[in-house]
Amino acid sequence: MEPTRHRIYMDHSATTPVDPRVVEAMRPYWSEVFGNTSSAHAWGQEAAAALERARETVAEVLGCRPSEVVFTGSGTEADNLAIRGVAWAARKAERGNHVVTIPIEHHAVGHTVEQLRDLFGFEVTVVPVDEHGRVDPDDVRRAIRADTVLVTVMTANNEVGTVQPIAEIGAICREFGVPLHTDAVQAAGRLDLNVDRLGVDLLSISAHKFYGPKGVGVLYVRRGVDLVPALTGGGHERGRRPGTVNVAGAVGLAEALRLAEEIREEENVRLQMLRDRLIERVLESIPDVRLTGHPTERLAHHASFAFRGVEGASVVVQLDLEGIAASSGAACAEGEPEPSGVLTAMGFPPEWAVGALRLTLGRDNTEADVDTVLEVLPRIIAHLRQ
Ligand SMILES: Cc1ncc(COP(=O)(O)O)c(C=O)c1O
Repeated sequence: MEPTRHRIYMDHSATTPVDPRVVEAMRPYWSEVFGNTSSAHAWGQEAAAALERARETVAEVLGCRPSEVVFTGSGTEADNLAIRGVAWAARKAERGNHVVTIPIEHHAVGHTVEQLRDLFGFEVTVVPVDEHGRVDPDDVRRAIRADTVLVTVMTANNEVGTVQPIAEIGAICREFGVPLHTDAVQAAGRLDLNVDRLGVDLLSISAHKFYGPKGVGVLYVRRGVDLVPALTGGGHERGRRPGTVNVAGAVGLAEALRLAEEIREEENVRLQMLRDRLIERVLESIPDVRLTGHPTERLAHHASFAFRGVEGASVVVQLDLEGIAASSGAACAEGEPEPSGVLTAMGFPPEWAVGALRLTLGRDNTEADVDTVLEVLPRIIAHLRQ
């Protein structure tokens, strides 16, 4: 196969490059304004002021109070803090023992909930999703019990891009007085994350998914939600997340979120056009392929497919040889292709669920990039099927 002329990055759901304006905003906070935000002196206070400005920016985008914004070390940590924090607080207050979730959560949520069940004796109800990866809010309603202490449902799925009916689930949770957490890591910078419109009590985001730095996240915690910190230590972040705060990271997250919000709607229109062209042509030009995820209720930049009888991991390797970055939902354990857990939960049989491919577009992708993929991919699939 002939190599493509330039490299094409189409894995923006894995991570994004840091926007140069974000790098610039962070620059002073490495060695000029380097104080510890807990220090009483001028150095510390200067850093603390920058941190509070970052908090206000995030609060503005989420439509919440600055005091409800907790900076964390990642999206994973935000999920851990939300789920374990609320469950442990409920345990402490003897309020209940039951958590509701869905089967296609990221491991940061899924494994945390499993740990609550396996090590801490919580009961877990996993509400199924349909063939498009969507949960029915009425099923969530039926799963809620008198001893339910938390519902956690992601805003948008990382593997198939499906957007969940969070506002409807939020209204149900409010009716029952049960806190709702949403992992909005894939949705941040792409959907409206106003916490009141969504009706959520806790929401996780991670800067590196919206052109910010890696290793910094935010957990929104609605005032009044009781939380036991998942880490123990000092009193940083109002006692909810101990550890000297990553000021440069927080500044970077806030600037990246502000910039993403500024162009969100316009960029979504552009990405959706590219995505739809990609999806349409792939379905037209390749036999035995299915679109995975919801046909319309999906993230604007997200195209994902299942190819029957082809290993997704092999497609990713072949695309990489052509200079194209994509990803597969299927993990490979010792050479044995393992079906994607997400696709399996959506009802895909194994011969389809091993063949997952995700192409996620970003700010730098053009129509020409899409056309290159459309030229290369059918050849790769045909070659692998031989
Ligand atoms: C839906 C979802 N949740 C959580 C995470 C974890 O975020 P982080 O990489 O910041 O730990 C990811 C990252 O891939 C994700 O896609």
